Amino acid sequence: KPLVFSGVQPTGNLHLGNYLGAIRKFVALQENNDCIYCVVDLHSITAQLVHDDLPGQIRSIAAAFVASGIDPEKHIVFNQSAVPQHAELAWIFNCVARIGWMNRMTQFKDKAGKDRENASLGLLAYPSLMAADILVYRATHVPVGDDQKQHLELTRDIAQKFNIDFMEHIRARGYGVDIVVGEEPIHAYFPPVEPLIGGPAPRVMSLRDGTKKMSKSDPSDLSRINLMDDPETIAKKIRKAKTDPDALPSEVEGLKGRPEAENLVGIYAALADRTKDAILAEFGGQQFSVFKPALIDLAVDVLAPITGEMRRLMDDTAHIDAILRNGGERARARAEKTMREVREIIGFLQ
Ligand code: TYM
Repeated sequence: KPLVFSGVQPTGNLHLGNYLGAIRKFVALQENNDCIYCVVDLHSITAQLVHDDLPGQIRSIAAAFVASGIDPEKHIVFNQSAVPQHAELAWIFNCVARIGWMNRMTQFKDKAGKDRENASLGLLAYPSLMAADILVYRATHVPVGDDQKQHLELTRDIAQKFNIDFMEHIRARGYGVDIVVGEEPIHAYFPPVEPLIGGPAPRVMSLRDGTKKMSKSDPSDLSRINLMDDPETIAKKIRKAKTDPDALPSEVEGLKGRPEAENLVGIYAALADRTKDAILAEFGGQQFSVFKPALIDLAVDVLAPITGEMRRLMDDTAHIDAILRNGGERARARAEKTMREVREIIGFLQ
């Protein structure tokens, strides 16, 4: 079975972008894959070191996973800091990756802002830890939103450079397999990672501005639907969502140049597990005054049960903590197997 890995940071409230871009895909992938889903708490201290309630934030992401339908017994749900092998492999990857690669990351440039010299070293090295998260399990498939694409390309670059730099050691220790990456046949220890980004809402946009990503850090709460919003709030936010004055087109091409319309249709399609084409076949020619109430009903139908279950789970911290502890133990055993081999490949005595 293919091995799937993904992570979500325990910072701020989860929103519809996180749900449609990531968590909903995590749920669907469980059927045919072996899945590991991680609350990446080590990443959450890269941009902001001190958090008011980090334990509560970590539990709320785990609760969102389970409430959305992730089965923590068949698959693995855990928090990153419980498996120190992530940080250990990240250190090795810090020595594989080049500073120039990190400096080119758009997320680093955005988050560091103008005062780059004053960003934490952890924020610069963030993609190295992300590569370690995935490769410490030698996972091959990574469901994420579109904003993580560049980080996953870097993950492939790190794996490739490790495989090439250590190729003779990998072979000599009897590890790795022969693969072809691009044109080049190599003997690889780490597999190439495939991002899973598709679907009708790989990049959910702000409800106030269809050219900006829906994000935890947008100062306007009206810009996003939070997973913990009640039905009245969801209805209000969709009613107030920015649109243009035209009716919906009957084909996807007609959404070009209409980012707000495209966003709402994409959200509808993702929530309904249908394509944008199918949604436009149904709503083409209709005004937003018809489409928005239908979207409100659908969003509430899908989200209200998840919100309810999340609240219930968050009241039962002992249960969530037990899930994380159990997932952590299983993840640690797998990660340690990789690390014993990696230490041997590099030549560390153990
Ligand atoms: P994070 O915590 O910012 O976001 C979690 C997931 O939600 C997706 N996402 C979106 N998708 C569509 N539209 C949006 N507006 C939107 N906003 C967020 C993100 O793409 C992500 O999939 N670096 C990662 C966490 C991470 C990770 C990993 C992911 C750490 N290690 C290893 C995969 C594999 C992040 O900050 O996600």
